[in-house]
Amino acid sequence: MEWKPDQYLKYADLRRRPAIDLLTRVDLAAPQTIYDLGCGAGNVTRLLRERWPTSRIVGLDSSESMLAKARAAEPGIEWRLADLAAWRPERPADLLFSNAALHWLDGHESLFPALYRSLALGGVLAVQMPHNRAEPSHTGMAAAARSGPWRAILEPLLREAPVMAPAAYFDLLAREGAGLDIWETEYLQRLEGPDPVVEWTKGTALKPLLDALAEPDRGRFLADYSARMAAAYPRRADGVTLFPFRRLFIVAKKG
Ligand SMILES: C[S@@+](CC[C@H](N)C(=O)[O-])C[C@H]1O[C@@H](n2cnc3c(N)ncnc32)[C@H](O)[C@@H]1O
Repeated sequence: MEWKPDQYLKYADLRRRPAIDLLTRVDLAAPQTIYDLGCGAGNVTRLLRERWPTSRIVGLDSSESMLAKARAAEPGIEWRLADLAAWRPERPADLLFSNAALHWLDGHESLFPALYRSLALGGVLAVQMPHNRAEPSHTGMAAAARSGPWRAILEPLLREAPVMAPAAYFDLLAREGAGLDIWETEYLQRLEGPDPVVEWTKGTALKPLLDALAEPDRGRFLADYSARMAAAYPRRADGVTLFPFRRLFIVAKKG
């Protein structure tokens, strides 16, 4: 899909928090080469630069609009257009870091071992992905997609949940000999303003569905989904909407 960086970055602080939590568990003093896989607009890549000011850092993404924003903000990092399904580093990497990106790819049974194998000895694969497809924000999206005249257009766009159980990543990577630190965190996110969960998903999973529809179906589908979100995540008396969000973290060290 074509990303809209400004919509995605509406909640930049909440989206950056898990990247910081992941970074605290990466025990590398001076990695020579770091790749940020699915770097988006570069917000998290900048954290990598702050932590390792002298490393070579490459941000990779398949979205030109995201990379354009990243390049404008941070010319000191290499920004490259790449599809992570096929990309592998030219030489073994010291750190492959990925925040909120690999759940956009299928085939994790082969992707994760392949990325792990492209690490240098002592290198680290550090990944964070949302693990919330069973939550109303996503089940409600699928239900709304299936309950209108737009069903024939939207149903093929509903993806199978790509993120597996934590133990499945443990098995996959332990088989490769990785030293592993895997955990989940559920953030009780505090959102404000009207339809905040819809504003959140408009920057990610909802976007390809909205892009596939023309008016008036687009507006009707959005109204249906918004009503489901208002019921599932009611606005409290203090104006706050609580949006629990589970995320999976994987740190795999080679050697
Ligand atoms: C939710 S954004 C996360 C951006 C950034 N890592 C951050 O934390 O702010 C996901 C990014 O993954 C990228 N992406 C999705 N599929 C990709 C693929 N197959 N190859 C490269 N990048 C991909 C998208 O273009 C998008 O910029």
